[in-house]
Amino acid sequence: MPACVLAAVAATAFADLHFLAVADWGGLPVWPWTTPAQRRVAAALGAAAEAHDSAFVLSLGDHFYYRGVRSADDARWRRGFEDVYTHDALRGDGFWRAVAGNHDHAGNVSAQLAYAARPGSLWYYPSLQYRWREVLRDEERTSVDFVLIDTYVLCGGRSDRRRPPRGAARAAAEEAWRWLEGALAESASADFLVVGGHYPVHSPAGHGPTACLRRRLEPLLRSHRASVYLSGHDHALFHVGPPLSPAAVQYHGVGAGLLTSASARHAHTVPHGQLRFHQRGRRFANVVESGGFVGCSVSAAGLTVTHYGADGNALHAATVPPRATECEATGEAGIT
Ligand SMILES: *[C@@H]1O[C@H](CO)[C@@H](O)[C@H](O)[C@H]1NC(C)=O
Repeated sequence: MPACVLAAVAATAFADLHFLAVADWGGLPVWPWTTPAQRRVAAALGAAAEAHDSAFVLSLGDHFYYRGVRSADDARWRRGFEDVYTHDALRGDGFWRAVAGNHDHAGNVSAQLAYAARPGSLWYYPSLQYRWREVLRDEERTSVDFVLIDTYVLCGGRSDRRRPPRGAARAAAEEAWRWLEGALAESASADFLVVGGHYPVHSPAGHGPTACLRRRLEPLLRSHRASVYLSGHDHALFHVGPPLSPAAVQYHGVGAGLLTSASARHAHTVPHGQLRFHQRGRRFANVVESGGFVGCSVSAAGLTVTHYGADGNALHAATVPPRATECEATGEAGIT
């Protein structure tokens, strides 16, 4: 018998933490500042947040194309964010839990931290990388740890556009990796571990996998038994999932906040048989009619990631069991 069969507890459990995730919704740097597809995703995101009583949305970078914001007072905040995500269910204090993408780093990332620091800000972004724990109100006191990482810094990207020496970027990257290893270790006791960042580890779409993350992040996610890794950068929804086992991390692409690209150029890089789902946009029509996001439900029984299109329809769902220690002992896991 598999030691951690999901269905064993699924019958009595109910989801009592729900959150959303979306990336790459960064609008346009010129009038009309947004697109029809971004507005449709925004409306569907709001409807999902209301229907599921979502606690927050993970916003995984590229919030403003193409060069981020200039300051905390940049008009893009209003034009590309506040005036687009207007649904009340998306407008709680700190509802938007952000980490930067490469396009954010091309502008003033400090301004995104400063915008978050204002009283009553919708934006939550205390530092470039951060972690927190949610504890469900169930008998088991099920815990979910969140670790949001800055993959641009981790991969040695320049931290601003004034081109600091490579040495400084490298030092910043090593400091960020040290922080990440500590954060993952601190999350050892959590029932679920959700890691989010901008660049993907695996991706079937136009940009494809990120070499630096495959080399250094993937082994860390596996050894620390992360439940899921959520990422953006590639403008697509996808799920790359090995068969469930304690070291099997499920990879979900959520970068369809503005549009879904038609590209499947890197499908061949996904480990054989592990591409569970890939939403592709239609070439030329994707600015109008594509896009999407994910919604995640957590209960003692499992964490379910559901992919939604811009019309709000569910396209794909996948569940992982908690990081139960008996799974580790036997090396077996199952989903029924
Ligand atoms: C970045 O934004 C912050 C907050 O608005 C501002 O104080 C700072 O001057 C900006 N930096 C640059 C280089 O414009």
